[in-house]
Amino acid sequence: MKIDGKTKLTGIIGYPIKHTLSPVFQNAAFKKAGLNWAYLPLLVKSEQLGFAIKGLKALNFVGINVTMPYKKEVIKYLDELSPAARIAGAVNTILFKEDGLVGYNTDGQGFVESLKKQAQFSPRGKNVLLIGAGGAAKSIAVSLAMAGIKRLIIVNRTPQRAQRLQRLIHDNFPRCLVKVLAVNDENIVSLQSENHLIVNATSVGMLSNPGLPIGMENIGRKHLVYDIIYEPAETRFLAGAKRRGARILNGAYMLLYQGVASWQIWTGQSAPVATMAAALEAEQNLKGAKNNGKSKPATRKNSNRF
Ligand code: ATR
Repeated sequence: MKIDGKTKLTGIIGYPIKHTLSPVFQNAAFKKAGLNWAYLPLLVKSEQLGFAIKGLKALNFVGINVTMPYKKEVIKYLDELSPAARIAGAVNTILFKEDGLVGYNTDGQGFVESLKKQAQFSPRGKNVLLIGAGGAAKSIAVSLAMAGIKRLIIVNRTPQRAQRLQRLIHDNFPRCLVKVLAVNDENIVSLQSENHLIVNATSVGMLSNPGLPIGMENIGRKHLVYDIIYEPAETRFLAGAKRRGARILNGAYMLLYQGVASWQIWTGQSAPVATMAAALEAEQNLKGAKNNGKSKPATRKNSNRF
């Protein structure tokens, strides 16, 4: 990559940032599209967040991604929010415009886009079982509701959090039916067969937190099962779903398509998705090879978040 006086800048802020996979596929996309742009990892300490946002604008950055732990906190520095970002209360993409800073949430959007592009699954009218009620689950729930799902069942270890998410969806999307079930509710298993899409949006299944988020007795051929974890590439949950005949997707697709949407917001062009996917895959294979050896397994803090 050639950096010169005309290079336009983008990047990602977070803390920590060294495990981010985004620079690899964002820069590959700029190169493929013949754009003199660059994407940088930017480590920002919490007390510096406001200065960092103002500084990046002053330095003429076109836009940035925002990752953990700033997706919520960054909102106070922005002038405008997309509907998904406003409802989810989280921003992962900023566009620095002349007349103000606009925040977007492409996490949920990327999730929905990956369903359509990778599994030819249209959410409209579908029933979804969502495990988890944290930040990622919230972005996913909002985008699925925006895409017109008929019913959402939320299962979460902490019921109060699931109930908060239920209220959020109910208040903003009154046509979407939303239910909450406790993790140990025996109906989870029987209800599985009524759902088209089953999503694990918890950290259960990561290398540092192996296990199954729910029992899998009724998962079968008619299901699409999505685990937003991408390390390991196939969690026990996904492996079990595959054995039972379900179609499966892992979190690498959500990561890819949130990046595709961000890229398009900044450049105004359609992104070279195949190039981005190939760059991400090559990087993951390298990481996988490393993790088979001496390096420490990924933890909740340093992986699975984009
Ligand atoms: P993120 O923003 O990445 O989604 P988060 O907001 O901390 O992270 O959410 C993590 C999700 O994983 C939550 O749904 C959490 O459940 P709680 O709300 O009960 O904390 C879930 N989770 C994490 N560890 C878990 C575990 N050991 N068992 C069950 N659920 C777990």
